[in-house]
Amino acid sequence: MTQPQKRLRIVVGITGGIAAYKAVGVVRAFVLAGHEVQVVATEHALRFVGKPTLEAISRNVVHTDLYEAVAEVRHVSIGQSADLIVIAPATANSLAKLAAGLADDLLGNTVLASKAPIVVAPAMHTEMWQNAATVANAAMLAARSFHFVGPASGQLTGTDSGAGRMAEVDDIVAASLAVAAANEAVRHDLHGVRILVTAGGTREPLDPVRFLGNRSSGRQGTALAQAAAARGASVTLIAAHVEVPLPETVTVVSVETTAQLADAVEAEAPAHDAIIMAAAVADYRPATVSNAKIKKDAVGDILTLELVKNPDILAAAAAAARADQLVIGFAAETADTDEDLLALGRSKIARKGCDLLVVNRVGWTEGFATEGNAVTVLDRAGSIVIEARGSKLSVADEILSVLAERLLEDRHRNPSELPGAP
Ligand code: CTP
Repeated sequence: MTQPQKRLRIVVGITGGIAAYKAVGVVRAFVLAGHEVQVVATEHALRFVGKPTLEAISRNVVHTDLYEAVAEVRHVSIGQSADLIVIAPATANSLAKLAAGLADDLLGNTVLASKAPIVVAPAMHTEMWQNAATVANAAMLAARSFHFVGPASGQLTGTDSGAGRMAEVDDIVAASLAVAAANEAVRHDLHGVRILVTAGGTREPLDPVRFLGNRSSGRQGTALAQAAAARGASVTLIAAHVEVPLPETVTVVSVETTAQLADAVEAEAPAHDAIIMAAAVADYRPATVSNAKIKKDAVGDILTLELVKNPDILAAAAAAARADQLVIGFAAETADTDEDLLALGRSKIARKGCDLLVVNRVGWTEGFATEGNAVTVLDRAGSIVIEARGSKLSVADEILSVLAERLLEDRHRNPSELPGAP
């Protein structure tokens, strides 16, 4: 990812954890890279690191107090003028406050008043990071496009070690500048584009308490919907048992079974410019669904299920697509080598008839319910268009860049299809 060339206005938010002393290094690195840094520290942060240090290093006055310079409306002006906000360290308490949208200090106001991308570098003890409240807060912030760097695993404040250590200064700086660069490059290149995304995994009921399902968490599809909306697209997300919070910026249609997903795609597809089938679809469903719970006494030692094949939604959407629509499929494959993976992908795109196929490797420990992903995008000819690796959000952005390019190419050929054209 290229680094932004322009001088950025970066707000470094520092909250009250012992890792605050390392935030001085973050501030220094941004200043030395030529950026304008405004430190917004909480009162608690200043118990760990001194204001004079931060002012000398940032070459700017450090603000903490909400009631200082009220005439300048500072509580909103800092956030409004920022190109990037980096909160390092972000304590468990500050993650909770950010998730709740609290604005009881200058940092909370700055975040709420800003449209800039926000990077957070959590730092806390392992137990606090793994606490269900923190996990839920972090998931909610991620769903709102906060970018997380770390925490890393390693030596904590005392003699203990584990997950929760703040990411290293260089990693925070590199990730933050990459986020700013992506934000700058991305702008609103999908403005006016209507994108339909399917995410999650369908479930086929066996009886009122059981189903046949798969391990898809819906993270990659949700990241695609979220990233597309952030780039200005109007997005419909058809969600089948998505385990992560759904973005608030998209229209959500919830489904259970493959038949419901097929109906929803058929109904929604004509009103969209691109269809991204990221959902993991159950290939088979029970031939009969029992209205009562299946009992062992009635079945005996062996239960044989008769399954019937489900329709192929992607193949049907590709066959029904207009020339101006782009259809993107996914292929989750278990393969021993990259060559085998690509061969499976090539035969799948030929079978499905879609425009692009996003191929990723899955296994017992790969692909599902993980934060990261590594994919190869193939075109109809089976050629590799891009290879992308990173967080599911950054992989989503790279896939969307291919989509944007393809749609734009088509529209240059047919200018009447440009948004707003008569
Ligand atoms: N898909 C679909 N309808 C199905 C099965 C899959 O639309 N009944 C879509 C998925 O959403 C994905 C693509 O097809 O975009 C590939 O899914 P995958 O499970 O990898 O492939 P299958 O078609 O199921 O083939 P196989 O399981 O034999 O590899």
